[in-house]
Amino acid sequence: YKRITTKSLVDMKRKGEKISMLTAYDYTMAKIVDTAGVDVILVGDSASNVMAGHETTLPITLDQMIYHAAAVVRAAERALVVVDLPFGTYQSDSKEALRSSIRIMKESGGHAVKLEGGSEISGSIKKILNAGIPVMGHLGLTPQSIYKFGTYTVRAKEDAEAEKLIEDAKLLEQLGCFALVLEKIPADLATRVAQSISIPVIGIGAGAGVDGQVLVLHDMVGMTHEFSPRFLRRYMNLFEDMTKAIGNYVTDVKSKDFPNASEQY
Ligand code: KIV
Ligand code: NA
Repeated sequence: YKRITTKSLVDMKRKGEKISMLTAYDYTMAKIVDTAGVDVILVGDSASNVMAGHETTLPITLDQMIYHAAAVVRAAERALVVVDLPFGTYQSDSKEALRSSIRIMKESGGHAVKLEGGSEISGSIKKILNAGIPVMGHLGLTPQSIYKFGTYTVRAKEDAEAEKLIEDAKLLEQLGCFALVLEKIPADLATRVAQSISIPVIGIGAGAGVDGQVLVLHDMVGMTHEFSPRFLRRYMNLFEDMTKAIGNYVTDVKSKDFPNASEQY
């Protein structure tokens, strides 16, 4: 195998090879994701929801993201590991953004960071890139701004927001970001963005005209079951399957079926 780099991803776009990306937050899951051949593992701040049970991504801390990222890095032999900068660790000023990014790189061993936003955070992106840390952008539905949006519905349906998004995507490319996530925007707009910049655009709920796809691992294997947006394709129904299996275990313990004669010393 060959380690995927930020450069490999740009090459994939040039060749028209779609990029596969999934989240992971721990060693065991990341080992499976890496072994399955996923190109990019995102240690998303969706860990706040999926791992910790928070309603939003806002509460997760930098220390917690570093803990998750370090476990994922220990598992990933081939995938590029990208780590989300959590809410509140990069918005106040570019120095804080750089300090947070350096902590992620040094303490987790991750290969790149991801930040939400465009022109508002261009100073921070520049500063991080100047330190030699690769940056992935994230535009469209940016969950750290959920209290500004008020809902998790599709973004950039209006012309003004769509124009700003296109400008922000071009800015992120100019600044030197190696890739960009577009979340929950109309497919036509996402396709336009992907065609107008040379860095890879990875979509989630952004249609088929982009350069790659990302999903939250626990959603695509059906471990979560309350969250069912249109863009989510479920490949398994692990919530049901595991609930049944664990129910069987409970039954077997209660009925003294487990352990049997061959399952003891
Ligand atoms: O945190 C996350 O899981 C993400 C993806 C949905 C892109 O940012
Ligand atoms: Na995120």
